[in-house]
Amino acid sequence: MPKTLTSPQFAATLLRWHTQAGRKDLPWQNLHDPYAIWVSEIMLQQTQVSTVLERFPQLLQRFPTVLALAAAPLDDVLAEWSGLGYYARARNLHACAQQIVQEYGGHFPEQLAQLENLAGVGRSTAGAIAAFAFKLRVPILDANVKRVLARLFGINGNVQSKQVSDQLWQLAQNLLPTANEDMPRYTQALMDFGATYCTARQPICLNNENKQVKKCPFAGQCIAKKTQQVLHLPIKIPKARSLEFTCTMVIIQAQDQVLLQRRAANGIWGGLWSLPESSWQQQAADHLQQTQKIKKNISAKKLLQMVFTTGQAADLLLELSDKPESGSQLKHVFTHRVLRIHPWRIKLAKAPLLKTADYAWCKIDQLDRLGLPQAIRIIFRNWNLIHGGDKANELVTH
Ligand code: ADE
Repeated sequence: MPKTLTSPQFAATLLRWHTQAGRKDLPWQNLHDPYAIWVSEIMLQQTQVSTVLERFPQLLQRFPTVLALAAAPLDDVLAEWSGLGYYARARNLHACAQQIVQEYGGHFPEQLAQLENLAGVGRSTAGAIAAFAFKLRVPILDANVKRVLARLFGINGNVQSKQVSDQLWQLAQNLLPTANEDMPRYTQALMDFGATYCTARQPICLNNENKQVKKCPFAGQCIAKKTQQVLHLPIKIPKARSLEFTCTMVIIQAQDQVLLQRRAANGIWGGLWSLPESSWQQQAADHLQQTQKIKKNISAKKLLQMVFTTGQAADLLLELSDKPESGSQLKHVFTHRVLRIHPWRIKLAKAPLLKTADYAWCKIDQLDRLGLPQAIRIIFRNWNLIHGGDKANELVTH
């Protein structure tokens, strides 16, 4: 570790900073129940604090204990998670609750290695639960902490490489306070310092307006600051360009019902109810600029055959536009992909039998209660099948 900042100094300075300037009253702070701590950590992983403020208490109210969560049907958990994105987290939440009931009699395990083995719990989350709930002297290393350490210690290798990651974990371990008692507050302080002071784009040390009010407690020791590299660190390999796809989704309505299809457990929106869709076609980016030219991915007949026994639906057909409606497309931006969805609406006189249990008819007035991917929710809103909330033709979720 560089001589500029020793580990007792670091912990003491951080704890002092937290007393003076840290956030202290967020609903997931100062918790003792490992269940509530775990839920909050999973939720906070990829969701903004403002959203978690609203949704964390709601989830705890709906599933007050790990037993309640484990006993709930997966659909109820997905519905409760609706709109939070990254649905693998909700499926893992459910799987992990069942694991805790089956393997640990409903009590959270207290060792780091056991926590790391739980579904959806990575090394840093296991560290956070261990520190918050059991006061273990174990480090965390989420993206915020990586940034703080890379700047403070001037680590200018690629933080996504194994070598630098190992170096950062070692550093995080070396910096821990000596007293177990300090672990919850220290861990929270480290997270909050990264989230509020040493932020990615507007760190306090570069914000002149704030200088008088907020001052970085490490300003005198930070290597990135001394070498004017604050905004250059941490170094990450640029992401590959997003791949772009199109697909057709079909809204099949029969009187007061709409047809839904359960998605496969693995993959995008795994396990959620969605709309029947054609296979995704990868597009060249320049082709997509011509949004007027809607590429027809699949014929209406094929879409109907996909879902119903041959001929059945054709006899019941009331209304079918001859192509996906222009102007009703939805551009959906995932983390690494862009999907342009062309919704296609079909009306049938009554609901025919379905081919497999992956399909289900859902009453239109019940749609709002299901765990639908946000994009599908927006499609229903755009078509006035779900009321309230925002309509959209572009959506960034994950
Ligand atoms: N991100 C993940 N866990 C967090 C926590 N406990 N406080 C603030 N941000 C977080």
